[in-house]
Amino acid sequence: MRARRMKLVGGLAVAVAVVGGLGATGAAAAPGGGEGPRYTAGAPGAGDAYFPYAGNGGYDVQHYDLDLTYAPPAPEPAPLEGRLDGIATIDLVATQDLNRFNLDLRGMDVRSLTVNGKAATAIAPPAIGATVDGAAYWHVQDDDRRVWELTVQPRPKLKAGQHAQVVVEYGGTTTVPLDIEEAEYGWVTTRDGAIVASEPDGSMTWYPVSDHQTDKASYGFEITVPEGKVVVANGVQSKPEETSGGWTTWFWDAPDQQASYLTTASVGDFDLRETTYSSSGVPIIDAVDTKLSPARLATTNASLARQADMIDFFESRFGAYPFNSFGSIVDNDSVGYALETQTRPVYSSQASQGTVAHELAHQWFGNAVSPERWQDIWLNEGWATYATWLWTEQNGGTTAQQAYNAWYAPARTTAYWSLQIGDPGPLGLFASQVYNRGAATLHALRVEVGDEAFFAATQLWLERYDDSAGTAEDFQAVFEEVSGEDLDGFFQTWLYGQAKPPATWTLP
Ligand code: TRP
Ligand code: ZN
Repeated sequence: MRARRMKLVGGLAVAVAVVGGLGATGAAAAPGGGEGPRYTAGAPGAGDAYFPYAGNGGYDVQHYDLDLTYAPPAPEPAPLEGRLDGIATIDLVATQDLNRFNLDLRGMDVRSLTVNGKAATAIAPPAIGATVDGAAYWHVQDDDRRVWELTVQPRPKLKAGQHAQVVVEYGGTTTVPLDIEEAEYGWVTTRDGAIVASEPDGSMTWYPVSDHQTDKASYGFEITVPEGKVVVANGVQSKPEETSGGWTTWFWDAPDQQASYLTTASVGDFDLRETTYSSSGVPIIDAVDTKLSPARLATTNASLARQADMIDFFESRFGAYPFNSFGSIVDNDSVGYALETQTRPVYSSQASQGTVAHELAHQWFGNAVSPERWQDIWLNEGWATYATWLWTEQNGGTTAQQAYNAWYAPARTTAYWSLQIGDPGPLGLFASQVYNRGAATLHALRVEVGDEAFFAATQLWLERYDDSAGTAEDFQAVFEEVSGEDLDGFFQTWLYGQAKPPATWTLP
């Protein structure tokens, strides 16, 4: 048992006796012993080596219903802080006999908590907890170690296989959260609303969640903002917005399985445009900040006008578009990057054509099929980059082979070549090598196995792991199965080699 630092959270005294390790904790024998249920605590993490406290064990979330009210910051010189209040209704299934389990929640105060509408009995020592509206919780927050955990003690306890509905009422001041490398992410407060982009573990800054892609779920949103503001979330509007008393409520529905880092509910002064469609009938719903400069608006409009063609092209290579809709959120504010939020990527300042192709490709690579561990990030970024090479070639630009050669040719530092893209470390998730060596890996693989096997294996990968997640080893296995080749040496060289790969795949 290791003691961790303690903080006051939401005015509550917080016991930070996190039971050692991430395995099952707090085992309690069933009365009578032997055959009965054995209730233990769900693990405080999903088991990801890069983000040990992201996600949780012991249950599987089916659906999140997020009923939020958000007040953006007052005009300058008021601080850049908003106010978020929410009721999260979480449907889950226990995967073990549970006496308690965790949710991830960062920087928000919990006001009440129920499980199946029921009061919990008081928490026994040694944990110091609080009883709020009957259900007990205690909240661990250690910002230095990036541990943000809300522990729920359901009474009665949950048996494996049992469904439960958890209702958390919470709220807090929103600021500008930072990820492990100090990039802005999560519920990023902007002067006119919020940019919500949460890769890899920022969803916990705005709702209680099992914040790891191995636990996907569907989502419903009911989000209330001052009249005049527009909320754009994942999926489609389930009914028209409703206004009363100076507030407008927006209803969005995202029925497809979705990883938590891909959830968005961005708020701003958006022009929510009329829906257009791809040839295959995918609805495209765009929201563009009304304050973009004329030059950025022109760039953005030209890029968004290509979305239907891009869907057509990627469907011809990768198979059917995986979700119920697509479209873009283009915010005048900037977090410094774009993110492939499911069905509805967010863009900072403007949307360039290459970035739109990149974020669209992620809908197949990363979103429909997610990286099982964060170390598998090259499967996201390598693929999105490679798909953009394919789109450029399709448009009469540089061919994929030329792009590969252009990446391969220049002299680069030892440090550049030494990064193992198959295990880049939590601070290397978005290193340029993950993108470009990742794309080059895929091109070299295509040259290695031939076009036919490459695209057949790609489609098999997408079918087999749809709505789920896979590892680099799973990916290799699919390509070996389809090509009949042993690809161990290939993947060792490309994913884990710390030198420039040989020129074998560089063609004229
Ligand atoms: N996944 C994003 C993309 O490539 C990039 C991204 C997410 C990012 N978070 C970041 C880039 C933080 C830099 C810093 O589309
Ligand atoms: Zn990307």
